[in-house]
Amino acid sequence: MHHFSISHGGSKAELYRDLRLALDGLTAGEPDAIANMANAAALIWEHLPDLNWAGFYRAIGDGLVLGPFQGKAACIRIPIGQGVCGTAAATRASQLVADVNAFAGHIACDAASASELVVPIVVEERLIGVLDLDSPSIGRFDAEDQAGCEVLIALLGPRIAG
Ligand code: SME
Repeated sequence: MHHFSISHGGSKAELYRDLRLALDGLTAGEPDAIANMANAAALIWEHLPDLNWAGFYRAIGDGLVLGPFQGKAACIRIPIGQGVCGTAAATRASQLVADVNAFAGHIACDAASASELVVPIVVEERLIGVLDLDSPSIGRFDAEDQAGCEVLIALLGPRIAG
């Protein structure tokens, strides 16, 4: 059992700081990438409000393959360079999309998704995959969410890089 104190009444910065501590506690010393991604997805899903999907795509071969997630069953394979996830993987830059319908090439796995944040996972210059968060609300994610998730991924990356 894991017990974490995640503040929901405070600022976004506090929430992400608490999430980072919880993620550290959940994954420290655990070498299994799937277990660590699964717990990260569950933690984010439970504590970040207004999401309809949270999870990972892994870089395998020349594409992205669905990894551990929470939410509805999703697209399994995404070519690098396609959709929001494939763009984050190709550019190795986070993609903050306020309105997915305005993003050319967005891949609609769940029609409920309205906005999206995708953070690439790069460890020692190797692309490991991406973290993908979807929300049913337009403009759900801001620069603080991006920075907060990038900090989470900086912690998690080496623990899922194998
Ligand atoms: N919308 C994503 C595909 C993944 S699902 O949202 C889970 C994209 O355009 O890459």
